[in-house]
Amino acid sequence: MQILKAAIIGGGHIADQNHIPALKALPERVELIAVCSRDIQKARALADKHAIPMACDNAAEMFESDNKPDVIINCTANNLHHPFTIQALENNCHVLCEKPPAIHAAQANEMADLAEKKGKTLGYNFQLRQTPEYSLLKRSLENGQLGEVYHIKANFLRRRGIPGWGNFTNKSVQGGGALMDLGVHVLDLALGLLDYSEPDRIIANTYDYIGKAGGKGLMGSWDAEKFEVEDACFAHLSFPNHASITLSTSFALNTNKEKDVNLEVFGTKAGAVLYPFSLYSEMEGELVNMEFPHLEETDIQLKNTIAFLDACEGKSSNICNAAQGAILQKIVEEIYKSAAK
Ligand SMILES: NC(=O)c1ccc[n+]([C@@H]2O[C@H](COP(=O)([O-])OP(=O)(O)OC[C@H]3O[C@@H](n4cnc5c(N)ncnc54)[C@H](O)[C@@H]3O)[C@@H](O)[C@H]2O)c1
Repeated sequence: MQILKAAIIGGGHIADQNHIPALKALPERVELIAVCSRDIQKARALADKHAIPMACDNAAEMFESDNKPDVIINCTANNLHHPFTIQALENNCHVLCEKPPAIHAAQANEMADLAEKKGKTLGYNFQLRQTPEYSLLKRSLENGQLGEVYHIKANFLRRRGIPGWGNFTNKSVQGGGALMDLGVHVLDLALGLLDYSEPDRIIANTYDYIGKAGGKGLMGSWDAEKFEVEDACFAHLSFPNHASITLSTSFALNTNKEKDVNLEVFGTKAGAVLYPFSLYSEMEGELVNMEFPHLEETDIQLKNTIAFLDACEGKSSNICNAAQGAILQKIVEEIYKSAAK
């Protein structure tokens, strides 16, 4: 098997904590050759920390070097997902891009079209797909245990989790608030249970009451003056086959849990909750509950990186692919459009 040469663009938190350790754990499949970040000092520090040979502050340097990468991991801020992914695909690299796919639906479409034209793999880092709970949920669906799934409640809620650092409240960098940062993860999981079909109706509301009031939360203090995004978003998606998803996501909401990340799935034969994984049905008039409280944790980033590398090698894989990313981004855009109306 060919060892792929990989490079990181965007040397921040997710690169340091998730992607570099995952790539380093797979020396038989991938060699990490370069890191590019806006600040050369930061790029060098990260390269030194992880023993990566090349550091630069201009991605073109990597593409023009003799030791050109085969794979780019795009770990930049949301507004740079599109330009760096396009640049990497133009240079005939496979790309694993951080979520959300882009800021606008048209950008995610362009990225998918170029990946197809170039014959390269473009995947998105929705790593919650790799939890053992989600695998069990998918299996319960595939083996018919759930019957037909007709409604999904998808939650990614924080009670007071407006980050007090970074660009999270900056609309031009992030493209949006809780939906772009958090909700997309559970939207991906929910769509994965409905064959990634496209909804034909969406109605949504977004709010910014808590964000605009300013304050201190569980993730630091935020500045009301610089709060440009939604702190909460609630959307109802209806699909041509009559299935529906209710998506609820927040940075800040007056709710009872500090954090709630979950799916509730309702099928004709059984229902399921993702965390902790459980199934609810009925047998001969008796209500039956099956609960699996202690599933072993796995390294979901490592599994998602492997899924991406499998896809690069043409193997079947459960990575969020370019076409799915484009559908998800279109839904996100429609949610914001509906809320704006
Ligand atoms: N999958 C997940 O669970 C998850 C978790 C956290 C973050 N993310 C995503 O990862 C991305 C990055 O998040 P982060 O927390 O690492 O942010 P960060 O701010 O820590 O890192 C972003 C990096 O990009 C670099 N950068 C900016 N402009 C650049 C340029 N022109 N050229 C090269 N590098 C440039 C910055 O210097 C910075 O180091 C975001 O899109 C975020 O949504 C995903």
